[in-house]
Amino acid sequence: MKGKHLLAIHDLSAEEIDFILNLADRLKRENKEGKSHEVLHGKTLGMIFAKPSTRTRVSFETGMTQLGGHAIYLGMNDLQLGRGETIADTARTLSRYVDAIMARLFKHQEAEELAKHSSVPVINGLTDLHHPCQALADLMTIRERFGKLRGVNVAWVGDGNNVCVSLLEGCSLMGANFRAACPEGYEPPEEIVRWAKGSARKSGAIVEIQPEPEKAVKNADVIYTDVWVSMGQEGEAKKRLEIFKKYQVNAGLVKKASPGVIVMHCLPAHRGQEITDEVIDGPHSAVWDQAENRMHAQKALLVALIKGGL
Ligand code: CP
Ligand code: NVA
Repeated sequence: MKGKHLLAIHDLSAEEIDFILNLADRLKRENKEGKSHEVLHGKTLGMIFAKPSTRTRVSFETGMTQLGGHAIYLGMNDLQLGRGETIADTARTLSRYVDAIMARLFKHQEAEELAKHSSVPVINGLTDLHHPCQALADLMTIRERFGKLRGVNVAWVGDGNNVCVSLLEGCSLMGANFRAACPEGYEPPEEIVRWAKGSARKSGAIVEIQPEPEKAVKNADVIYTDVWVSMGQEGEAKKRLEIFKKYQVNAGLVKKASPGVIVMHCLPAHRGQEITDEVIDGPHSAVWDQAENRMHAQKALLVALIKGGL
């Protein structure tokens, strides 16, 4: 995988995802045993942020430190990009200094433009359409809890957004069943669903998108939700809060799933909207493991893209 970009989960094969997850499990285990992995000594990650972040920034930056390398935070107001320098020229310049670029941007095409003109790997740290680093950590978390991905029933409840898209792509590639309940008009984009159904045919997974939360969570091993208003959609907040009201993950909905169900959320959560305190702080919640796994999964990804392996 050395030198590849990661803009979307569909850039990866099932074998490559397996490779990253296996490496991530190993890095996590050995890190807890006190072993260090300074295999990216002297390497630098440039991190462009056009939107705020807690997890992505801190997990990438800490991950690079643990790998013996260095990460530079580049906010929009620090870069000349914020004053009109083009994405292409920014990519050409950064490529002369750093060993990989992580970028959190608005339009997905901006990430594609960055990758097109970068000679070093570009990692998508969230765009309006995809959040592949989140999905890698999510697949790692599901596999850690259930010992497998194939045949695990994942239920998505809420907006068919960037997090939903990447999880849908990941589940369909890895053979996990993906049943989403999204309000009409808020489903993941049609071309992505079509791609995921094709990929599910090969892996043996089921992909279903429909509007009823109760139907999606029946026999679910995982219930996943995310905010109703993503970054950049603040102008639609009032309308969205009304439309998504019946898509709350609360104790009543969790009871309708498998008894051993885990509840996931990429965070940040809007407690009392898409998820209740009782659920996020309750016994089914896996959200803190999920947040932790961002770091382990991304360390594996950085090692794979910059060095090819440990
Ligand atoms: N889940 C996630 O990407 O969190 P941040 O926005 O805090 O990075
Ligand atoms: N869907 C959310 C995810 C935040 C990590 C957003 O794009 O704001």
